[in-house]
Amino acid sequence: MAYIISMVSQKGGAGKSTLARLLARELAHNGMRVKIADLDTQQTTCTGWASDRAEAHIDPEIQAQPFGNLRTALAEAGRFDAYILDGRPHSSQQTIEIARAAHAIIIPTGQTKDDLRPAVQLAHSLVDTGIEPSRIAFALVKTTRSVVEVAAARSYLEQTDYAVLDGDLPISTAYGIAHDAGKTVTETPYRTLNEKAERLAQAIVDRLVALTTVKEAS
Ligand SMILES: Nc1ncnc2c1ncn2[C@@H]1O[C@H](COP(=O)(O)OP(=O)(O)OP(=O)(O)O)[C@@H](O)[C@H]1O
Ligand SMILES: [Mg+2]
Repeated sequence: MAYIISMVSQKGGAGKSTLARLLARELAHNGMRVKIADLDTQQTTCTGWASDRAEAHIDPEIQAQPFGNLRTALAEAGRFDAYILDGRPHSSQQTIEIARAAHAIIIPTGQTKDDLRPAVQLAHSLVDTGIEPSRIAFALVKTTRSVVEVAAARSYLEQTDYAVLDGDLPISTAYGIAHDAGKTVTETPYRTLNEKAERLAQAIVDRLVALTTVKEAS
């Protein structure tokens, strides 16, 4: 059975495609069969990136494919251990659909109230459509070096009914450069940055394991 993980946000540029690529790389690196279903057919960020990666012969190769339709995308999920759905922004209907299909729903958010509020609102609106709150987790992305501000953002999110993933992804030019070269945020030349990203990826995996273990046991 494929574990299905959806990256969703209302805001554009929140970090969905960054997390999709990060998780895909970490799982593939650990020998899992992984694919990113790129449901953002306007930007096809992950598809373009996967092609850059293949061209640069970076291991492990990551499969990504654009899909205009969730049903078509899900039809082949069974061939993989993990299937990552990367959604487009500003799309309430698609966001709900891909959230519904997922074992784990990850909402990336920045640390300011301008970003946190819409992230929490999105989570609430998903729950309003019948999605279990436990399946939703926030990831702090594009954080600054202010430990106090990051901690305040984390505490804001922790007051909700949703999980907040351990770790965060600070803003760094090196992360952007990595993406440009077909790499992920764990593949920069800087060990500290790679380890920060690995921690966040591990938190997503831990969350997924916790959710699917509970499901299988019940
Ligand atoms: N921590 C970071 N530091 C620097 N740049 C980052 C970081 N995280 C992401 N980026 C860059 O920010 C931009 C937006 O990130 P990303 O594409 O992951 O967001 P998105 O939510 O998928 O956007 P969209 O809503 O447009 O699909 C990209 O250019 C990405 O390379
Ligand atoms: Mg994107």
